[in-house]
Amino acid sequence: MAAINKLLVVGLGLIGGSVALAARKAGFAEQYLGVDLAQDERQGALTLGVVDQASDRLEELVPDADLILLAVPVLAMESVLQALKPHLKSSAVITDVGSCKASVAEAAVRVFGELPPRLVLGHPIAGKEKSGVSAADAELFLQRKVILTPAENTDPQALQLVRALWQETGAEVLEMPIDQHDQVLARTSHLPHLLAFSLVDTLARRDERLDIFRYAAGGFRDFTRVAASDPIMWRDIFLANREATLGALDEFLEGVQRLRTAVAEQDAEELVSTFTHAKSARDYFTALLNETGYQTMQNQTINFVTQPGAGPVQGQIRVPGDKSISHRSIMLGALAEGITRVKGFLEGEDALATLQTFRDLGVLIEGPHNGEVTIHGVGMQGLKAPQDPLYLGNSGTSMRLLAGLLAAQNFDCELTGDASLSKRPMGRVADPLRLMGAEIEAAEGGRPPLKIKGGKPLKGIHYDLPMASAQVKSCLLLAGLWAEGETSVTEPAPTRDHTERMLQGFGYPVKKEGATASLVGGGKLTACEIDIPADISSATFFMVAAAITPGSDLTLEHVGINPTRDGVINILRLMGASLELSNQREVGGEPVADIRVRYQPLKGIDIPEDQVPLAIDEFPALFVAASCASGTTRLRGAEELRVKESDRIQVMADGLQALGVDCTVLEDGIDIQGKGEAEAVFTSASLECHHDHRIAMSFAVAGLRASGSITIKDCATVNTSFPGFADLACSVGFKLEAKTV
Ligand code: S3P
Repeated sequence: MAAINKLLVVGLGLIGGSVALAARKAGFAEQYLGVDLAQDERQGALTLGVVDQASDRLEELVPDADLILLAVPVLAMESVLQALKPHLKSSAVITDVGSCKASVAEAAVRVFGELPPRLVLGHPIAGKEKSGVSAADAELFLQRKVILTPAENTDPQALQLVRALWQETGAEVLEMPIDQHDQVLARTSHLPHLLAFSLVDTLARRDERLDIFRYAAGGFRDFTRVAASDPIMWRDIFLANREATLGALDEFLEGVQRLRTAVAEQDAEELVSTFTHAKSARDYFTALLNETGYQTMQNQTINFVTQPGAGPVQGQIRVPGDKSISHRSIMLGALAEGITRVKGFLEGEDALATLQTFRDLGVLIEGPHNGEVTIHGVGMQGLKAPQDPLYLGNSGTSMRLLAGLLAAQNFDCELTGDASLSKRPMGRVADPLRLMGAEIEAAEGGRPPLKIKGGKPLKGIHYDLPMASAQVKSCLLLAGLWAEGETSVTEPAPTRDHTERMLQGFGYPVKKEGATASLVGGGKLTACEIDIPADISSATFFMVAAAITPGSDLTLEHVGINPTRDGVINILRLMGASLELSNQREVGGEPVADIRVRYQPLKGIDIPEDQVPLAIDEFPALFVAASCASGTTRLRGAEELRVKESDRIQVMADGLQALGVDCTVLEDGIDIQGKGEAEAVFTSASLECHHDHRIAMSFAVAGLRASGSITIKDCATVNTSFPGFADLACSVGFKLEAKTV
């Protein structure tokens, strides 16, 4: 059933005509009416079936209209409102499509004495360079954004009706305050139009015969496309959105002036810095547009689907760089004096979140290109205040380590993250940092966002970690770099020591005495070269894959085997797996080796508790191995698994049970009844991984021993740690498809 009887469009141009066409297609109204002063637009609208009735007189059609859409130039809004006011029926709702909102709101107040509750101002972010009703297109708003700017007194029913209209056109409807709308549009739409008009005009004046355009290539075409837009409409927009445009223009002129100086003074560093910053912002935007980037991965649904009959797992591969070391290379490289060159950097979303953060803190970082990153260190005092909150996506490591580093700066900042990160405990870092003198505000329950106050002098403390956490240890050691005196941290069990190793690699002394690591604040870091090994946590999925699939023989190259990370090797060996390490060497302070895994039947074990922190990220995959072993595997002392990217004990247990495996969940662990003898260990199922990358990949590995297809929902976060996982897996014998749904 139609939502309303009569929709009246005032102004039968491209936008007004397209709204009417789209609304008609969706059956939004019983009848479509149009008012326009131009005879040919009225005629065109009738011929094209845009409206059923057209007139040049408002008084003829307004009295019957239930919803009136004003699609006239912004400076004409006032006279149109004035003219329709006496003819409105009391229930009528009015909306508009103007590109700036404050001037329309002011016009309405002048006409009605207040902003009428049934006037809902709006703006579709869509258009073409063509104008007129002949260019109208029912699909113009499909998947485009429409911004509504309701006021406090806006009638909720009126707002709902206008929302419904736009939703019917296929648009995504957003709301924001009028001022914000005008500021945002001044920068993202009005300014680029002004610049395009200006550049084309300037060139055309220098060369009246326009010969110069003959030589213009793609760059000119891309930059100036919008200079072909309607001059009258744009005149009105600049007159109406004067203040916000002037603000945007002043900022832009400052930027151009800075570049002018850099060119004049041959300041290569400033040019690279500006261009790199712009390029990374533009790449991010391109990713948004192409829906391949981080932000949109979150909105995009990717399911993994495995097929039976896969394997054996064979070949020789190198998995991406170590996530923990990638984070730390950016952090220490940024704080060092000199240029740090990194190889093997993980181009996954978590490490990229750290990289982007340091750009936002004013550090020039080139790359990553094929895992190579060049960081122009700014020294211990060189970070700059960020403009906006720092968004860290899914990355707990970024947030916890940065909390320590940023608590010691002389500016305020805020750290935010995605839905999963926003649920993770940050009190574990905020509490000891407060003991050092930091001022940090967290949301309820010590969760993100974290608001960090700058300019608080820190003093060194001794801290006994209540849990075995490398992130907390690293956070405090990083804060300790600026603290007065000594900062020391004692851990209840060994955790990964990449921070300590890398600090030493950058020439910063760190003392290790038993379970305690300490350093004295006030020193400096010196840039160095970093070669990041392949991530043992990513290699784990392939080690388990080969260990559970009969006939497998797989070699993983250049894997980091730091003794604080090698729990998975020890545990798999205890289970009877055949793992052979060769080519062992040390690269940039971290031990690496090639690991060859051959299939051999596994047996269930009691996992030694001292191995738990050394394999903390590997348990989802180890649970899959345990399901394929003969006998029971018991895990205890692993309560930390409950506060990872998901509750990894519960989410894995739910999935394994759905796959037909018996398991018993305990507060700090799990018992898994292996089905080693069975040819197919897992049944077909559709599983939730709760957006947890490691759980998604672990269930993909389970697909190698399944009797049917396994669907794993919501796997987009695999890109946080392992971009390209599905392709690499298929190259060694998996039958796995990453489906965008
Ligand atoms: C990490 C430490 C571990 C680990 C995480 C990375 C690090 O977290 O689970 O994936 O890089 O320091 P906890 O410190 O919370 O154990």
